[in-house]
Amino acid sequence: MSEKFKDITNFIREYYNKPNGSIALHEPLFIGNERKYVLDSIDSTFVSSVGKYVDRFESMVMDYTGASHAVATANGSLALHIALIVAGVKKDELVITQPMTFVATCNVISYVGAEPLFIDNDRKTLGLSAVKLKEFLEKNCTTKSGATFHRLSNKRISACLPMHTFGHPVDLEEIIEICKSHNIVLVEDAAESIGSKYRGKQTGTFGLVSAFSLNGNKTITSGGGGVIVTNNESLGKLAKHLTTQAKVFHPWEFNHDQIGYNYRMPNLNAALACAQMEMLDKFLDKKRELAIQYKSLFDRLGLEFAIEPKNTCSNYWLNNVLFPNRKERDEFLAYSNAQMISTRAVWTLMNKLPMFAHCLSGDLSDAEEMEDRMVSLPSSVRI
Ligand SMILES: Cc1ncc(COP(=O)(O)O)c(C=O)c1O
Repeated sequence: MSEKFKDITNFIREYYNKPNGSIALHEPLFIGNERKYVLDSIDSTFVSSVGKYVDRFESMVMDYTGASHAVATANGSLALHIALIVAGVKKDELVITQPMTFVATCNVISYVGAEPLFIDNDRKTLGLSAVKLKEFLEKNCTTKSGATFHRLSNKRISACLPMHTFGHPVDLEEIIEICKSHNIVLVEDAAESIGSKYRGKQTGTFGLVSAFSLNGNKTITSGGGGVIVTNNESLGKLAKHLTTQAKVFHPWEFNHDQIGYNYRMPNLNAALACAQMEMLDKFLDKKRELAIQYKSLFDRLGLEFAIEPKNTCSNYWLNNVLFPNRKERDEFLAYSNAQMISTRAVWTLMNKLPMFAHCLSGDLSDAEEMEDRMVSLPSSVRI
């Protein structure tokens, strides 16, 4: 195995043309209009939550994704929080999600007073398993007045929040069908999947409402940032209202009609976001090029590489290899990180974290297996 480890780290060093020094897991790249737009924002004095770049960024997201509404937020977690509120998730309800995800997916469920219900990840898509979702609902749930309830806890399952893991879209067609037949609202955690497509359509445009992240480690970044997208006009308007302190528009009076949030993306960050949106397609091409090269390396080495699922076009945000078992995974993590090549294990499963350990779950055997074997590899864009 150690020869294989060497082949992998040699490939990474050659790809990034960095014979020595550290190689990040994912670092941002600013080679377009970033400096120009950020300086323009400073010169205009509009650096906070009002300014032309916030509006421009939202228009760019709508044009790019095809969603009719976009609301820019200070980060992706806040975008998801608002997405769940406008989707109507209430205290003491259950929200279905996958155990192998970033903690923010589950934290936001708690922010609205609901609890996650964990359904396994799928080995092919890496995200929520449609097969296990269907099985779980059929075995454990019942319908009362058009809503779905978990039989034992008698809690309503109001929403399903699948996450497009590392950019690979979940099986949206199946999941939408299942959610529809159980009257469960679909909200996509598209934090990692900007630019990814399912059957030719952008992720984030399938759910009633969805959220992207523009954190510094994502495919494109605004420093910190997020954006809510929806095709539902009243939810789009409500999302914008809630992210702007629920202020009722008036040129000089200050009036608020409900509890709101100071969640809007500052213009300074939006300036960066606009410049990065201009680069998105170019970055996606480069990320695909790297994924193809990783794939041929791992084919040659006889190791499994996580490719985009059928009928999808992934943004390949982070590339992942699967070692035969946890021992070899750990050996590779130690080997690569000792050489200052940043690689990392997948997140500890959410159902194992102390704050979510009591939550309901189905069979999670595939997530368990991936947790043992999967390693994320350096995936920054190289121009
Ligand atoms: C799956 C997932 N959900 C939510 C978030 C939250 O986004 P942010 O870091 O912008 O708050 C992230 C990323 O960080 C993520 O990977």
